[in-house]
Amino acid sequence: MAVTHSWEAAFAERTRTGAGDGIAAILGLVANPDLISFAGGFPDPRTFPISRVAELVGELDPSAFQYAPTNGLEGTRDAVGARLDRRPEDGELMITSGGIEALELVAKSFLDRGDDVVVEAPTYLGAIMAFRSFEANVHALPQESLADAPVRPKLLYTIPDHQNPSGLTMPLEQREALVERARRDGFLIVEDVAYRELAFDGAVLPSLWSLAPDVVVQAGTTSKTFFPGVRLGWAAGPREVVAQLVSAKQNTDQCASALAQRLFEQYVRRGWIDEQLAASRELYARKCARLLDALAASMPETVRWTSPRGGFFSWLTVPDDAGELARRAVELGVAIVPGAPFFPDGRGTTNARLSFSMVDESLIDEGVARLASLLRL
Ligand SMILES: Cc1ncc(COP(=O)(O)O)c(C=O)c1O
Repeated sequence: MAVTHSWEAAFAERTRTGAGDGIAAILGLVANPDLISFAGGFPDPRTFPISRVAELVGELDPSAFQYAPTNGLEGTRDAVGARLDRRPEDGELMITSGGIEALELVAKSFLDRGDDVVVEAPTYLGAIMAFRSFEANVHALPQESLADAPVRPKLLYTIPDHQNPSGLTMPLEQREALVERARRDGFLIVEDVAYRELAFDGAVLPSLWSLAPDVVVQAGTTSKTFFPGVRLGWAAGPREVVAQLVSAKQNTDQCASALAQRLFEQYVRRGWIDEQLAASRELYARKCARLLDALAASMPETVRWTSPRGGFFSWLTVPDDAGELARRAVELGVAIVPGAPFFPDGRGTTNARLSFSMVDESLIDEGVARLASLLRL
């Protein structure tokens, strides 16, 4: 006879934070095609290199169909490493199954129950989840205060370039101050560079990892620049740290997909990634400009927003509860993400994230007008 009781009581304690529910709710909103959705941080499908990838698949040799070494195929590591702003030395780079796996491997390798982690707030929900799932105490500070964190954490997590969800970029002086603090206090900075290559004008500041490869592990992804379905990313950091992450990966998926690795390697070698990046930057710059113009044209004085110079997001500050705003917006056929899930401590109630990456360009004005109508009441 089939078991009828609930399995919930048997779930491991560390999985009961509920932190996973936020992302599921956001993905649910994106899936509804009837909404004008500013919700998901997904790339625009028009950037996907479908025919080029089909061409490459037909040309790959058997290594693409085999298991790969846990730290990644050598050719893929070469291709990824050559794109970073510092050439990784031997053992300083590994290939992961997406950026989220790099974060998960760092959390798994470093965190015991009760360890302190500092994150910038607001921040990427997936990172909060990764740290929480290893029972860390997650402390949140504004990005500009990270170098003055009142606790000495084991890990400090930041997204310095076109941050998710604020869209903002960390100035050079703050980068320098932060790595100095990490050196002084002996903690590891986890630098997430998910949107780094998507500056609208292509300009970048030095990565934290290039400034201090002794105290920074960089987590990267090809999801926003190639396509997320390939599930490919990297971790670059001190040799000893990368070796520990490789060891942790041995009992998760053992290796990132060889097929994905060989595809990306060939895509880079043919120069196609740079062509895709140029087209993506132009597309996202145009969509962002349209969003900012629409906000300026229709939002009341009481509403504020950030003006990103790259990435996928603008961050809205409204006078009242943004959760209620999001609920009423759905009734008007518009999806936004309220700010609270981007904070580990319940703040963000008057914030919302607007993503311009995937929304149909021709619907941006209408979507913002509907939102503004709710805020003008
Ligand atoms: C800041 C940040 N890091 C990492 C990721 C996850 O990347 P991946 O798809 O490679 O797991 C995202 C995706 O939304 C992100 O916004």
